[in-house]
Amino acid sequence: MGLKSKDLVGIKALDAADIEQILDTAAGFKDVLGRDIKKVPALRGKTTVNLFYEPSTRTRTSFELAAKRLSTDVINFSVSTSSVVKGESLRDTALTIQALGADFIVVRHPCSGVAHFLANNLDASVVNAGDGTNEHPTQALLDLFTIREKKGVIRGLEVAIVGDILHSRVAKSNIYALKKMGAGVRLIGPPTLVPDVLKDLDVEIYSDMEKGLKGADIVMMLRIQVERQGKGFFPTTVEYFRNWGLTPERLARAKESALVMHPGPMNRGVEISSDVADGMRSVILDQVTNGLAVRMAVLYLLAGVKG
Ligand code: CP
Repeated sequence: MGLKSKDLVGIKALDAADIEQILDTAAGFKDVLGRDIKKVPALRGKTTVNLFYEPSTRTRTSFELAAKRLSTDVINFSVSTSSVVKGESLRDTALTIQALGADFIVVRHPCSGVAHFLANNLDASVVNAGDGTNEHPTQALLDLFTIREKKGVIRGLEVAIVGDILHSRVAKSNIYALKKMGAGVRLIGPPTLVPDVLKDLDVEIYSDMEKGLKGADIVMMLRIQVERQGKGFFPTTVEYFRNWGLTPERLARAKESALVMHPGPMNRGVEISSDVADGMRSVILDQVTNGLAVRMAVLYLLAGVKG
């Protein structure tokens, strides 16, 4: 038992048994997090460095907490006050951090492929916290954990992912993970942001939101990734909301038991209305809570991989 790689670069490299093992381990840590003493000595003596070249609230904070709950030392590397601004390369920066004793380097970067590059250049375990438009594996794992916790199963569910699929690393990791675990996946959004070529991933594609949501078990909304778009993918945010925003009326097309998910940060009134985001079927804050147990599981299992 155990993961096969020292790194978590993407969901693509995992199989269903790996995913199951991470979710099961996370369930154990979720129990621990419900106790009075939430800290375990499992990784005492190890060091985790958060190396974030892009902003983050949920991912960075929960990796920091996860590492602390496992008793590792934690450094939050601040790119803007580091020698990166003097021109130091990513590789030299990461090698420097490793030379200081980092066992885990959690990296977020605007360029796709950075986690893979670092994993190939470092002895430390590299965890991808989001690389460009490529993957955000721990987000998909916490999403699957939340689905399994609320629905009891993943296999056979119909999951509708709505919005800017083209630029979303969250969508890519979720598509890979959900398909490996036996769920059906529908992608919904404007054709400019949900190109037909994505059909190669064995998913259904809809531009009509009402049709795409019909009978869905899970409705996963995505933020418009303005920072990764040029102009011209849709006319205005008002028009986007009119066609692809999740309102109570649109949600009524999905199953009555359907859950509403969003990886955050949300743009209320652009991709989701506040009454849906804060409504009874929303599990958006459960996703955040579960991220802590899932990230503990990832660090714990990677520490067990023999070099
Ligand atoms: N979902 C997610 O990655 O959120 P942050 O950008 O706040 O980490």
